[in-house]
Amino acid sequence: MIELENVSFRYKSDDPWVLESISLEIHPGKSYVIMGPNGSGKTTLIRLLNGLLLPNDGKVIVDGMSTRESDKLVDIRKSVGMVFQNPDNQIVSATVEREIAFGMENLGVDQKTMHAQVDEMLNRFRLSPYRFQSPHYLSGGEKQRLALATVLAMHPHYLVLDEPTSLLDPASRREILAILGSLPAEKVDGQAMSTVFITQFPEETLDADHLIILNQGEIALQGPPHNVYENIDFLQEIGLETPARYFISHMLKKYKT
Ligand SMILES: Nc1ncnc2c1ncn2[C@@H]1O[C@H](COP(=O)(O)OP(=O)(O)OP(=O)(O)O)[C@@H](O)[C@H]1O
Ligand SMILES: [Mg+2]
Repeated sequence: MIELENVSFRYKSDDPWVLESISLEIHPGKSYVIMGPNGSGKTTLIRLLNGLLLPNDGKVIVDGMSTRESDKLVDIRKSVGMVFQNPDNQIVSATVEREIAFGMENLGVDQKTMHAQVDEMLNRFRLSPYRFQSPHYLSGGEKQRLALATVLAMHPHYLVLDEPTSLLDPASRREILAILGSLPAEKVDGQAMSTVFITQFPEETLDADHLIILNQGEIALQGPPHNVYENIDFLQEIGLETPARYFISHMLKKYKT
């Protein structure tokens, strides 16, 4: 489990708080989605999950390890895999194959396991035809699949993604969402995987176990999407859209009464 206890964060000591007193639990085998207006602190929040940023106040505990313990950061980052918003910023290798192997090499995975993993990931993410190509020539959707393959090859317990579908066309978006949806059923060292992703598309939140609405650095609402979308007036107030089905039923109720 990842636990955030009263986490507050700001980038500089005389800046306003970017996150204020956030408490949250990420449980194994569950899917979480974070939605919120621009600048509400979503990216900052997920960067706290693997110790890329450290809280000014409160703590972040990953499977019992605090992100403040610098000798635990390697284990924490192995457990919490991160995919950034723009996959270009994550690419470090000359070929697609080397890119998938890169993270595993850093973890000291043996050659035989690594080759098997690379083959599996190339197949699973339909990247085999590009095996020996430079990742820089891939399309946006292919790059996003490569970023996912690279992180998943390291077998994280928690997969955290910053707007993984924002640069994709509808077909690629559906494909990535289907992959993400299938992951909580998978086990890594006996622990079911959890996914956490940020989106600005309300329709992408519907299948999540838990939806978190961030507004001005605070958790404004959280719970199963069905419950969160009961607060449609509030969501509109802070500039967020509601999936069509909730919006329509809300309007129907409004005009009946
Ligand atoms: N490196 C940084 N240094 C200083 N301030 C920052 C830095 N990164 C972000 N901020 C500020 O922190 C606040 C939250 O930013 P963050 O990127 O977490 O928001 P977000 O919800 O991810 O926004 P978006 O929807 O635009 O991606 C913003 O006011 C932003 O200007
Ligand atoms: Mg962001």
